[in-house]
Formats: sequence, structure tokens, C-alpha cells
Amino acid sequence: MNEKEIVLSGIRATGNLHLGNYYGALSKFVKMQNDYDCMYFIADLHALTTTPDPEALHVNVRNILAEYLAAGVDPDKATIFVQSDVPEISEMYLLLNMHVGIGELMRTASFKDKARKQLGIKDDGQDIEKQIIGTDSNKRVNAGLLTYPTLMAVDILIQKAHKVPVGKDQEQHLELTRRFARRFNSFYGVDLFPEPVNFDFGGKPVKVPGLDGSGKMGKSEGNCIYLVDEEKVLRKKVMRAVTDEGPKEPNSPISEPVANLLTLMELTSAPETVQQFRDAYADCSIRYGDLKKQLAEDILKVTLPIRERYLDIVNDDAYIARVVKQGAERARERAAKTLAEVREIMGIRKFY
Ligand code: TYM
Repeated sequence: MNEKEIVLSGIRATGNLHLGNYYGALSKFVKMQNDYDCMYFIADLHALTTTPDPEALHVNVRNILAEYLAAGVDPDKATIFVQSDVPEISEMYLLLNMHVGIGELMRTASFKDKARKQLGIKDDGQDIEKQIIGTDSNKRVNAGLLTYPTLMAVDILIQKAHKVPVGKDQEQHLELTRRFARRFNSFYGVDLFPEPVNFDFGGKPVKVPGLDGSGKMGKSEGNCIYLVDEEKVLRKKVMRAVTDEGPKEPNSPISEPVANLLTLMELTSAPETVQQFRDAYADCSIRYGDLKKQLAEDILKVTLPIRERYLDIVNDDAYIARVVKQGAERARERAAKTLAEVREIMGIRKFY
């Protein structure tokens, strides 16, 4: 019997990974692989909801696989797989959708956000339901975007995962997953799915800020530091990060752009270094040029070794193929078992 708790998490195949992905997810993947039964995947089906370019999708999947491996995910300790290599997920997605309400999906923050983007409208506080229903077929919100949380719940439930290391922005999706698990268990009077929880070593899940002064780091925000950024590019990005005009009097409250840089520093630098800059802000002696230089230095200590390994791995097709083939086999084994249980519970039984 398998005694270790099951951990599962994934990242969408929409581009290279940034520091938000790293501190929100990937760095935890690496730490957890020694103590848990870990399964990490590339969500290529989820990526289709926003990035339907076939060539880009395939390249993105390979790049992220290489980034997982370069960051230290070990295929001998963890199962690494591609979502679409497990067709059981797609079938269970159909089945679970029968127990999911359109209303609860439409209320999801990420759906509203991405639906607005697909329609090209700003968030003016208005409900977007009418706009979604009223749009013609050229300007549409795809149905896959609406059912995104069902697919994510299936990723988790089909492996019967207990812990799901993700960043703060994914908490609502996890909450829905728990709700769907409870609903399924209670509707059929079974005890099939555990209720999965987020996991973070430090306690609270992180939200990594961007370099543009406000909001989180995100691929679509253009405010990212990528794990594979070249040294020069990375330094330039950090040196150009938004700050403020500097504190005018001692012990002023820290403005958002500067607080964001200090948050990045807390993730990458030694605690004494962060304190030194906090003190300098408090007594008005802070020099943002120094802060940025130090920050770039400390980020590079994390990213450059990853970049080096990435460049070795990303063109090693044979190695990548071996890793995902082995991963797909392991992931399918568990998924097929759960799917068979779900079919039986829901009354989908064979006559032959
Ligand atoms: P995705 O691809 O948007 O993000 C991947 C992971 O990176 C985290 N993340 C961040 N964390 C902190 N600060 C940020 N600025 C930041 N930006 C991104 C996300 O929280 C996430 O952990 N729906 C998922 C993919 C997925 C999944 C799953 C995850 C599909 N099925 C099953 C776990 C379990 C997503 O869109 O991640």
C-alpha cells in the first residue's frame, strides 16, 4: 500500500516560466518530491483555452518540461507527464461536468477576467453575462474557458491528490475542486475523493508581484522575469522596474512599487539584506539603484544555474521523450483506476 500522501500540480503550456511560477509552484515541486508521492504535469489542454496556436503549444510543452527538469524536478522521484497523454482525464472531465453548475463557473474570477480579454472589454464593474450571451460567433468566449475549473478539478481528483502546491491566484479553483469532490461523494453516497488543499512550506501561499509597480507577475502582463532570461536581459529588466520618488520623511509607509521589489527580495535575498533596505527606506537613505543591483544579483543566483541546465536539456529530445513516456504510464495507471470507479458509480456499465 502506498503510504505517502499524493501531491499533484501543473502549469499551463503558455510560455516560459517566470518567477511567479517558480515561487508559487515549481520551487515547491522540487522540495516536496522527497517526502510525498508527487505528480507534476504540463497542462496543454488548459492552454488551448487561450493559446490555440498548434506550433506554439508544442514548443511550450517541451520548454516547460525542460524547465521542470532544470529546476530540479527528478523523474526518478516524481512522476512528470503531459496532461493530454492521459486521455482518462478528458473522459472524466465530461462526466464531472454533469455535476457542475454553469452559474458557479461563470462566477469564477479567472473566468470573468479571461472572458473580458477574449471579448476585448474592460472591467467596468458590470456583469459580463449579457455580453457573453449576446456576442456573435466571431467574438466569442470559448466554452472550454468556462469549464476550465472542471478540467482542473479532474486533474486533481483523478489522481486522488491530497496536496496541490499552487500560488494564491489558484485558490478559488482549489475551493471549487473541494466543492465538486464533496458534491460527488455525497450525491452518490461514496467516499471516493479526498478534499485537496494548497500547500506552502512557509504557511501562506505566495503572490509574486511584477516589475511594473502593481499587481502580480503574469505572462499576459508583460512584467515578468523568466527563469531562462539571459543575464543582461534580466539585469536590464530589474534596473527598469518601477519605483517611486523616494521617501520624503522618516518612517513613511512604503509605496506599492517599492513594496513589490522588497517582496521579490524577500523571496530571493538573505533576510539581513532585506532588512538593510527596509531600514534605509525608513531613514530615507535608500538608493533604488543599489536595491535593484542587489536584487538582480540575488535573482541571478537562482535563475542562472537553472538557465544553464535548461539549455542542456531542452534540445535533448530523447531524454525528454523518455521522461514523459514513463510519466504518462504511471499517471495513466492511477487515472484509469479512478475513471473505472467513477464510471461504475455513475452507472456507466458495459453489456459485453
Ligand atoms: P498557471 O499556468 O497560470 O500557473 C502555474 C502556477 O504558477 C503560479 N503562479 C503564481 N504564483 C505566485 N505569484 C504569481 N505571480 C504567479 N503566477 C503564477 C500559479 O498559482 C500556479 O500554481 N490552473 C493552473 C494549472 C493547472 C493546475 C491543475 C494546477 C491545471 N490543472 C491541477 C494544479 C492542479 C494554472 O493556470 O496555472
